[in-house]
Amino acid sequence: MIQPGDEIVDASNCSVLPGFVDAHTHPVYGGDRLDEFSLRASGASYQEIAAAGGGILSTVSKTRAASEQQLIDCGIRHAELFLRNGTTTIEAKSGYGLNPETEIRLLGAIKRVGESTGLRVLPTYLGAHAIPAEFAGNRQGYMDTVLATLDTAADQRLALWSDIFVESGYFDAEDARRLAHRAKSHDLGLRMHVDQFGNSGGARLAAELAAASADHLEYTDIDGISALAKAGVTPVLLPASVYCLGLQKYPLARTMVDHGLPIVVATDFNPGSSPTLSMPFVMSLCCTQMRLSPEEALTASTINPAYLLGLGDKIGSLEAGKVADFTLWQCNDWREIIYHVGSTRPSQVFCGGKAIS
Ligand code: NIG
Ligand code: FE
Repeated sequence: MIQPGDEIVDASNCSVLPGFVDAHTHPVYGGDRLDEFSLRASGASYQEIAAAGGGILSTVSKTRAASEQQLIDCGIRHAELFLRNGTTTIEAKSGYGLNPETEIRLLGAIKRVGESTGLRVLPTYLGAHAIPAEFAGNRQGYMDTVLATLDTAADQRLALWSDIFVESGYFDAEDARRLAHRAKSHDLGLRMHVDQFGNSGGARLAAELAAASADHLEYTDIDGISALAKAGVTPVLLPASVYCLGLQKYPLARTMVDHGLPIVVATDFNPGSSPTLSMPFVMSLCCTQMRLSPEEALTASTINPAYLLGLGDKIGSLEAGKVADFTLWQCNDWREIIYHVGSTRPSQVFCGGKAIS
């Protein structure tokens, strides 16, 4: 019911959607990876580039060299692009510092981005993203540093979750168990990058550790999917990273939905494997590459991630009593937002009851 003081928004001839909730992003870092993009266009793979000193570690050197203000400016620029594409909430990971000082600087910058833009930003500590050069051959020693930094991040309330990249050449099951144990002692949730380039049993590990989510899952098989369903772990699918790396193996989204899993899709926005900030583009990949319906793609971009991030009672759907987080689009059938791939942006965005100009 309309009450005195309520703001009326004219949405005639528009489609109105809940603001997108992008539950997996890496939006704050130094430099860019445009040269790698060119290298991949001429045939080099993501793993070959990483083995030659590029990849995550090249962004780490540039991030370590960046001042806090440069990192904040980078995050603000991306926050504005998220909003312009209809996203009103993101989960934002650190993970390009890989030493205590830079990881905390990144988490501080992520916090400032949330405070100084209209975007809602929820932070995750991803110290276990890659092993930095100074710890080459000493993964356990690096994990000791990761756990100590997690203590600092938790004490300073700079993170809500902790994340780890479980993949050959990065971190293994034992590292994940140590991180899960420490995160639990701080009451932080666990997120996990698993089964991106091969099936290492990452989904089953996420189930064993009662992670909040298992992300990527390109190589997860039916056994892994059953384990996620049984343990109540939310799958977060990142089809734009498959697309942007020029790969063909998308996760088994249809099978996950058929197992009753509340799938989430997200951009995985980062400078290397997925430089897109657009949820409409991700929804297009859902429909064209993973056989999801537009309705399933929308659910996976709004209400399901809202629940994953603990905000299901506030955002993610258009319901009386929720926060006014919504977007207006110049179309009569909302499916056009997905159908006209790469061509649509909202005409207006409201986040937390405020119009974003
Ligand atoms: O989610 N998989 C690990 N991390 C990122 C890639 C980060 C990068 O290439 O800079 C991802 O795809
Ligand atoms: Fe990621």
